[in-house]
Amino acid sequence: MTSPHQPGAAPPPGCPAHAAPPQQYAPAQPDAQTPVKLYGPDFAADPHRIYAHLRQYGALAPVEIAPEVTAMLVTDYRAALDLLHDDATWSKDSREWMTTVPPDSPVMPMLMWRPNIFYADGPAHVRYRDVVVDSFKLVEPHELRARVQRATDSLIQRFGAHGEVDLIADYARLIPLLMFNNLFGLPDSYSDRLISAIGGMLDGNSPEEAAAANEAYTGYIMELVGAKKAQRGPDLTSWFMDHPHALNDEELIHNVILTMGAGNEPLANLIGNALARMLSDDRYYNTLSGGALTAHDAINEVLWNDPPLTNYSAHYPVRDVFFHGTWVRKGQLVMVSYAAANSQFDTTARTGPGSGGGSHLSWAAGPHACPVKRHALLIATTAIERLTAWLSDIELAVDPATLQWRNGAFHRALVALPARFTPITPDQAGATPWHNRDSAPTSSTRSAATSTGRQPASAR
Ligand code: HEM
Repeated sequence: MTSPHQPGAAPPPGCPAHAAPPQQYAPAQPDAQTPVKLYGPDFAADPHRIYAHLRQYGALAPVEIAPEVTAMLVTDYRAALDLLHDDATWSKDSREWMTTVPPDSPVMPMLMWRPNIFYADGPAHVRYRDVVVDSFKLVEPHELRARVQRATDSLIQRFGAHGEVDLIADYARLIPLLMFNNLFGLPDSYSDRLISAIGGMLDGNSPEEAAAANEAYTGYIMELVGAKKAQRGPDLTSWFMDHPHALNDEELIHNVILTMGAGNEPLANLIGNALARMLSDDRYYNTLSGGALTAHDAINEVLWNDPPLTNYSAHYPVRDVFFHGTWVRKGQLVMVSYAAANSQFDTTARTGPGSGGGSHLSWAAGPHACPVKRHALLIATTAIERLTAWLSDIELAVDPATLQWRNGAFHRALVALPARFTPITPDQAGATPWHNRDSAPTSSTRSAATSTGRQPASAR
């Protein structure tokens, strides 16, 4: 253990990280160390270049995650583990910190305290976490796989005849929402409401649009909870309600909202980032017709290199603390860069693609590590396998070097992933919903006019 906590030690005189935490919102003081921006086009284009720069500060570096919102970012693997496992020093409760930042900051939805699993410590956290973990345990893996297949087939049905698709907007971003609508217990006819509400919150171009989407989402959740109060079913909402820890109504609603929110973006980005890797890398090309590297390998590569949640695990020390060489003041925001920590981990010890696991931090670690990892992996793997099984000659419609990443400190997310494939049409017989319009396409049947020039592995 390398964590040099010195709870009783005095801060060094003039330490910029040591101003007393203000009680009311007051703009951050200018820092001796200029914080490095974790948002904007430079960071989105090449985050690993920024992480390499941040490492010069030591295990923690000063960053700005939005205008007027600074944090310390842990980039060191060992320090990340020490923080994530030490819940006596580090709290998830953001209430004191919230008084120090602009209330309308765009990072507030990711950091604002609510009575749910994310922001709770100690016994309160265990109580909420039991509800989530025990309820997800009741979702049988084979049943989950069948539900994912139904969801993916319904999406492929929407664009299969077009021969082209944006795999982010029309596939990866929709799968978590279809799955949550189903797993939390509403009929498929409700899924479009969830899609337009959450899509509106992400895309809202004006405060009015964002507020309308937020209202639509609240309406959806209230209807969901109302329906399950009236009649329980074999679903997560009912299992949350009937858990022996007996959540009250407010806790129930917040934990349903949190669970959907916690899973939505990371799951979409895990699917999207893995698809981008598969379609950009010749080692996967043959996989589409039964070859070398698999969806599982692509997901593993993403978890090591492009974690969907890239910087998070927001924590606040309960007292001034000297942590891995840096003073952190009580209540100051400290986040973990899973991406930076993973990349610094001794690459020779990585299990790497094809190995099926490893010690990356992309699910975090310690008491707040993702409790739904197995379900998320199964959903992502099935979604990718299903897509590439139906559209076996799918390929990128643009040069991989031109793919754009979304701005923002928390997520590693593509703006779009345009792809094309030989169109397919619904099969009237219905047992398998699709068949190819012509003979079954293979990766080498695409015409020269549209080909990106890739060759199946066997031809190289
Ligand atoms: C079905 C999809 C998912 C659901 C329902 C879900 C749910 C959750 C929940 C409820 C938490 C809070 C745990 C706690 O505070 O004790 C959490 C944490 C976390 N999840 Fe997931 N998750 C999903 C997918 C993912 C994916 C795909 C990733 C990325 C690989 C991911 C990464 C994380 C991380 C890093 C944390 C810790 C965050 C923090 O403490 O700040 N999750 N997840």
